[in-house]
Amino acid sequence: MQELGKEQDTMAKMEVKTSLLDNMIGVGDMVLLEPLNEETFINNLKKRFDHNEIYHSAVQRHLKRVQLGTSAFSSKGIDDPYVLLARQGRVTYIGSVVISVNPYRSLPIYSPEKVEDYRNRNFYELSPHIFALSDEAYRSLRDQDKDQCILITGESGAGKTEASKLVMSYVAAVCGKGAEVNQVKEQLLQSNPVLEAFGNAKTVRNDNSSRFGKYMDIEFDFKGDPLGGVISNYLLEKSRVVKQPRGERNFHVFYQLLSGASEELLSKLKLERDFSRYNYLSLDSAKVNGVDDAANFRTVRNAMQIVGFMDHEAESVLEVVAAVLKLGNIEFKPESRVNGLDESKIKDKNELKEICELTGIDQSVLERAFSFRTVEAKQEKVSTTLNVAQAYYARDALAKNLYSRLFSWLVNRINESIKAQTKVRKKVMGVLDIYGFEIFEDNSFEQFIINYCNEKLQQIFIELTLKEEQEEYIREDIEWTHIDYFNNAIICDLIENNTNGILAMLDEECLRPGTVTDETFLEKLNQVCATHQHFESRMSKCSRFLNDTSLPHSCFRIQHYAGKVLYQVEGFVDKNNDLLYRDLSQAMWKASHALIKSLFPEGNPAKINLKRPPTAGSQFKASVATLMKNLQTKNPNYIRCIKPNDKKAAHIFTEALVCHQIRYLGLLENVRVRRAGYAFRQAYEPCLERYKMLCKQTWPHWKGPARAGVEVLFNELEIPVEEYSFGRSKIFIRNPRTLFKLEDLRKQRLEDLATLIQKIYRGWKCRTHFLLMKKSQIVIAAWYRRYAQQKRYQQIKSSALVIQSYIRGWKARKILRELKHQKRCKEAATTIAAYWHGTQARRELRRLKEEARNKHAIAVIWAYWLGSKARRELKRLKEEARRKHAVAVIWAYWLGLKVRREYRKFFRANAGKKIYEFTLQRICKKYRDQFTDQKKLIYEEKLEASELFKDKKALYPSSVGQPFQGAYLEINKNPKYKKLKDAIEEKIIIAEVVNKINRANGKSTSRIFLLTNNNLLLADQKSGQIKSEVPLVDVTKVSMSSQNDGFFAVHLKEGSEAASKGDFLFSSDHLIEMATKLYRTTLSQTKQKLNIEISDEFLVQFRQDKVCVKFIQGNQKNGSVPTCKRKNNRLLEVAVP
Ligand SMILES: Nc1ncnc2c1ncn2[C@@H]1O[C@H](COP(=O)(O)OP(=O)(O)OP(=O)(O)O)[C@@H](O)[C@H]1O
Ligand SMILES: [Mg+2]
Repeated sequence: MQELGKEQDTMAKMEVKTSLLDNMIGVGDMVLLEPLNEETFINNLKKRFDHNEIYHSAVQRHLKRVQLGTSAFSSKGIDDPYVLLARQGRVTYIGSVVISVNPYRSLPIYSPEKVEDYRNRNFYELSPHIFALSDEAYRSLRDQDKDQCILITGESGAGKTEASKLVMSYVAAVCGKGAEVNQVKEQLLQSNPVLEAFGNAKTVRNDNSSRFGKYMDIEFDFKGDPLGGVISNYLLEKSRVVKQPRGERNFHVFYQLLSGASEELLSKLKLERDFSRYNYLSLDSAKVNGVDDAANFRTVRNAMQIVGFMDHEAESVLEVVAAVLKLGNIEFKPESRVNGLDESKIKDKNELKEICELTGIDQSVLERAFSFRTVEAKQEKVSTTLNVAQAYYARDALAKNLYSRLFSWLVNRINESIKAQTKVRKKVMGVLDIYGFEIFEDNSFEQFIINYCNEKLQQIFIELTLKEEQEEYIREDIEWTHIDYFNNAIICDLIENNTNGILAMLDEECLRPGTVTDETFLEKLNQVCATHQHFESRMSKCSRFLNDTSLPHSCFRIQHYAGKVLYQVEGFVDKNNDLLYRDLSQAMWKASHALIKSLFPEGNPAKINLKRPPTAGSQFKASVATLMKNLQTKNPNYIRCIKPNDKKAAHIFTEALVCHQIRYLGLLENVRVRRAGYAFRQAYEPCLERYKMLCKQTWPHWKGPARAGVEVLFNELEIPVEEYSFGRSKIFIRNPRTLFKLEDLRKQRLEDLATLIQKIYRGWKCRTHFLLMKKSQIVIAAWYRRYAQQKRYQQIKSSALVIQSYIRGWKARKILRELKHQKRCKEAATTIAAYWHGTQARRELRRLKEEARNKHAIAVIWAYWLGSKARRELKRLKEEARRKHAVAVIWAYWLGLKVRREYRKFFRANAGKKIYEFTLQRICKKYRDQFTDQKKLIYEEKLEASELFKDKKALYPSSVGQPFQGAYLEINKNPKYKKLKDAIEEKIIIAEVVNKINRANGKSTSRIFLLTNNNLLLADQKSGQIKSEVPLVDVTKVSMSSQNDGFFAVHLKEGSEAASKGDFLFSSDHLIEMATKLYRTTLSQTKQKLNIEISDEFLVQFRQDKVCVKFIQGNQKNGSVPTCKRKNNRLLEVAVP
């Protein structure tokens, strides 16, 4: 508790440091004003206003308090219905109030630094500001999950719209960040310029007066990040489109468009820059001081883009605006008809044509809609012509409808862009900025509606602050002195009562059959409302006003909470009916302009609805009722705006004006109730639930009634008794500071509790972890020890085995040595004896041998003789036996051969034949496949040679091993034979040096023997000169001996040119090859087989002589070389060694 006391002390010190009391001008919080009366209140406002302090709050408690005894509490048990109601959770926090005085100039109090100053600070810590209120509302929404609404009230020009923008920008600045969130924020903020351009206008009271009511719900997620928003709009003052009071302007967008649009855009929209061209724009105040319409136009276009308008959408919107402007320029002239009826006619159709081009409406359709009015009733259709006045009425009604529907479409379109994309639960902050209470020279239906709306807002303020609060104190048995205030419920009732309220009367009049005019409506009011205290009319039954000249006959006056307003009754009926001729809505529906078409769905002939649409008044009443209901479900926060002067000027503080506002806003009463009352109340259960952790007895569970628990809690915390009171079902806390302290203590305690939970959890986690580690360690250690012991045991075991085996081996060897020694010792005598016996035996043997040798000599000789005889006999017998055996063996072989041949025959004839053939073929194929073409050729030649010479010529076997090379002489490479080579064009088959035998003497000379495909050539070996050339067709035969020599004769065809000298006789080392090649070449070229004669004697033709070449067996004199000799005319002898 001491700690708590210290904590409170330090907090108090901090507060002192940052208190709003520091450097304060006047009194920032009106609750602290002493004495509190109208005069001091206004003086305080003025003093602060003069020092640029424009904000004031009504939150703090007065320092001197009335002590409230707890004895006032009397328990009635929980069956009390009120206790039950409170339990169900209506916890009321009397919302903060900020009083704002319009400075009419910019003050340096909205900078980002200021935002930081107010961020997350308690409401009472800093000087009053819209930021402080916004921060509190935002934090309450974020941290306590309570939907908020910020109600901004005050008369026209008091600064409501500015305040609402400040609230939004503050919330945007302090809430979450991130690309997506920033986009949402930006879109929410940028919806303002768009709506202001289309819904605001300059009035005599305010240069930027909101001509529509706006309520915006900003939606947040559980973290407090904005998700999106929803805007509701309330009744746009559309009469302004066609007519503006003196000194006022039409809606900003018209002027912005004409000033800011490029020439290109203007010509596209068929507009001219000159304001004076347009009847709908008032000229006397077209320019507003300090307002740059052109720059604003760019801002609006940019804002539209940010909000998400497509380019074509923005263009469509401007087209509609242009069409409205141009509608005002259509003028009518009267035209009399034969039947006496007045008819109107369009003066200049050019404008109409351009409108139709812009909107895609058929000109004749629109023209007809301005001239006729068709009334449909059941199946009947009646068309009547319009006179000039009616035509103008129709034109203006169309312009007003077009513009107001465009405005509603804009709001819906913005909503579509800014709506929250998720379906998560949302928290909502509503900001209400509605048109302020206004009194003009001429007040019409619009002012009546606007002022009614303000009455309702005042009513809700009174309900929630003055009435409800005071009533609650009484209900809860809290000691209370009633504070008087003016309750405007009576005025609301005058307007909205369903049976005799003004709006109900107006509706009744509008729906009544027969002639209905504004005058009949006024008459009705005069009858029904005459006795009402707040209704004044000259013609009413109430004689009070009979002589009141300030009250014209065509008017009625209402005493509003904020003052008396005189309403011109003219136009009430029409405006309430809000009639647009069906012909016009149908013409609009026929437009090819998609946006315009969508604005007039009732123009669709397929959807004709004969029922009257609800009147403007009843629609507005219903939407205001919904709004009020909505506001009541949220935590209210108030910004009460005060206008310091009527001149829209800075530094001027008109006391009378301010005094009037303070009075009707009920500010003084409000402050009084706050001074005497309690800032915060909450049912006991939720209160105990929220703060029970601050006290040991109530934490974690309190067994007993909640109220007793709260009592214990507050005693424990030593909260001064004057700071709170016990109601029947709720605890009332007087000072917000106490509540904030409680909250701070709770926050601190929650942190401690979190730390405790964290501590225990961490301890538990660490211990569990430790135990797990310990268990694991034991398991690992056990396993490791077992493993280590096992390993050691095995090592010891194997060592023991080694040692054992060594010892055993050593022991065994020792025994073995011993045994061997013993054995050798034992055997020594025997050995010696054996040696001795051996010597003796050998000596005896030698003697016996000598004796036997002598004795045996004869026997031996005899035996030898017998032996040789026997052997000779044996040899003969053996020879005989071998011969016999040989015969038998040959016989057996012959038999075996016969059997095998039989078997083979049998095998081939039967199954084996196939296998045999197949195998043979395979072997052959395998062998063939290995052959290259070249090798094949060689084998073919070798085969040919074998067929020609095998077993015929003795030289053949020696040629088998020689490879046939053909070109032995490489004439291509030898330059000596270049000429020879050039002379031969064909492929050379044989090039070899041979010996040519001289026909005359048998001597030989060397010649180059060349065989080509077609010829046989002989050339000189030295010069390479061709000596003879024989075509192969002329070669008839080749002759050679059967012996081992290389001579051969080439016989030529008789009578051929080559045969003139006779046949050739050659000798060559490669006879077999040459003869074979010659044979093959001749065969392939001439297709004739060359005759090869092998004979040891043959005839050759030498010139005219036929000479016999004879081969004889020669002597060895000449070595192994055969010699040749011409013996005589008829014989040539070749000696072959
Ligand atoms: N806080 C402020 N600081 C500076 N100027 C302000 C401030 N509040 C208001 N003004 C000035 O007062 C003018 C009127 O304010 P605003 O438009 O907010 O009034 P309003 O209450 O919304 O009026 P209406 O009911 O006609 O819409 C603003 O255009 C601005 O010039
Ligand atoms: Mg405004």
